[in-house]
Amino acid sequence: MCGIIGATSSCSDVVPLLIRGLQRLEYRGYDSVGVAVVSGGLVTVRKGAGELEVVRRRLAIDGMSGTTGIGHTRWATHGPPNDVNAHPHTDCTGTVAIVHNGVIRNYASLREELIAKGHRIRSETDTELVAHLIEEGLGEGRDFVEALARALMRVEGTYAFAILNSREPDRVYFAKNRSPLLVGVGDKVKVVASDLPAMLEAAKDVIFLEDGEFGYVTPTEVAIYRLTKDGYAKLSDAEVASRVRRVNLTPEAASKGGYPHFMVKEIYEQPQAVRDTYEGNIDDPALAKVSSALAGASKVIVVAAGTSYHAGLVFSYLLARRAGLLPHAIISSEAPYLMNAVEEGDLVVAVSQSGETYDTLEAVRMAKDLGAIVVGVTNVLGSALDRISDLKLYTRAGPEIGVAATKTFLSQVMLLELLSIRAGVDSGRLKPSEAKELLDALREVPQLLTYTLEASDPVATALSKSVAGGSMYVLGRGLGSAIAREGALKVKEIAYLHAEAYPAGESKHGPIALVERGFPVFIAATSDAREVAGNAVEMAARGARVYVVKPADLSLDLEAKETITRIDMPPSSGTLELEPFILTPVFQLFAYRFAVGKGYNPDKPRNLAKTVTVE
Ligand code: AGP
Repeated sequence: MCGIIGATSSCSDVVPLLIRGLQRLEYRGYDSVGVAVVSGGLVTVRKGAGELEVVRRRLAIDGMSGTTGIGHTRWATHGPPNDVNAHPHTDCTGTVAIVHNGVIRNYASLREELIAKGHRIRSETDTELVAHLIEEGLGEGRDFVEALARALMRVEGTYAFAILNSREPDRVYFAKNRSPLLVGVGDKVKVVASDLPAMLEAAKDVIFLEDGEFGYVTPTEVAIYRLTKDGYAKLSDAEVASRVRRVNLTPEAASKGGYPHFMVKEIYEQPQAVRDTYEGNIDDPALAKVSSALAGASKVIVVAAGTSYHAGLVFSYLLARRAGLLPHAIISSEAPYLMNAVEEGDLVVAVSQSGETYDTLEAVRMAKDLGAIVVGVTNVLGSALDRISDLKLYTRAGPEIGVAATKTFLSQVMLLELLSIRAGVDSGRLKPSEAKELLDALREVPQLLTYTLEASDPVATALSKSVAGGSMYVLGRGLGSAIAREGALKVKEIAYLHAEAYPAGESKHGPIALVERGFPVFIAATSDAREVAGNAVEMAARGARVYVVKPADLSLDLEAKETITRIDMPPSSGTLELEPFILTPVFQLFAYRFAVGKGYNPDKPRNLAKTVTVE
């Protein structure tokens, strides 16, 4: 996930502060780095692909100087990681330099419009377009606040911007919509940054900006404006002063956003991750292209490993339900033994958050050799999967550092759900009005996830204390069976408990033999398969301690038994697409809380690597 910083000081060069800020943003993961300063009436930019220490030496960033500057660590979303796509970006005249974290949804139409107006767009990024939009306003004789406000009104999507310009050498402008952004209020210095660690050295007094706010800082002033329906309004000085909060955190603690581990930080980042994934894909022409490729394919094959395979299973259930397509979901390492059946005209959808998983890449290479078209679904632009794929879709979860896939899973689910809805419309099975209802519901998922996390954490904490070690089953039917598999994987890899997932109906064909008094059985109950209630009752009848995780409004025919516990999560109103988001977090948090309780390291579970690049 990109990290941004901007600073302006009345008395000292800000470049060292920017570099230290960028070092503190490194934990977010990045592929490119850049700095811009304004000095002597000129904006100077140095930027490039690679690690901070390398780019810093290669481009002599330490040799830059200025009392106002901005810096950026880039996590590629539009255009591969290279020197041109690295931030900061400038307008045609070199007056404006901008850094950005977020995704601009209407980037394709803005790009076309700006090119038609004669702007020279140098990079493939969405960010650069905003510099040119501001340039338009300045060219019409507007002041910077007005030009920025007008640019923001044209931009759809998520953003945190830091911007400088050569006309006002002591100002850093900023704007925020759904990407984090803070203002640090120091004595003779003001800072804007994506998060606390980057600014704590300069300022412990902080303003947490709200969505729709923009403004500027000078060394002595903070000005905040709010976008309104018909324009914008300035906040009073008293209002700005009342927003300042003192933060008592060390930069180290703050680098995990105040969380003790990356895993829990990433679990709590899920609302943002799915929002960015929704915004980044909903209007992307690539989604329509992949949807028509699905419709035209002789066979659809999904290949993936681990958590990504579970996202692939969610996709399979939804594609069958919405578009009448029955894809074959194959675990990547098993693909070589099934690939004989692949032929020209087939479509292989490869899902991998890292885009570097050996088994998945091998399956993709084989499929390509056999003439199949490959769709790569990955979180890492420029990864091996991205490069090898014929068609490309991206989740926008930002880098995931904890070994357990959490936010990348729900981002994959979001993206694949958008695709299945689109395929549903293209197949004629889903009416456009029904698709619109589903898409409207998915747009609300970030909020729903926030409620779900609030509801899940106390339950997960209590369960982590009451569920003893040993074995457990995690069962589900239909979509619930995919969620159960993901739940069980989290519990195995992080809590080191033997959690076995089964389609609930299949449990009668053998697994139930293990059940005895007190044996824990978790059930992920989804609205496509209420029959799962029968499985819960069967398990309870054999003495199992049954926990049914379900949307609160899903009524199930469960006996009022002391050994059956209903775990009610926020309601789904029967919208199946919402249910993975409602039911997954409790398993993630249970695994996390259990591990922490036992003193295990949830970020680096034993025997596991984040990316498996070997056979
Ligand atoms: C999930 O928590 C695991 N760490 C693992 O199963 C992972 O999902 C799998 O290795 C696939 O990785 P990928 O998505 O990067 O291809």
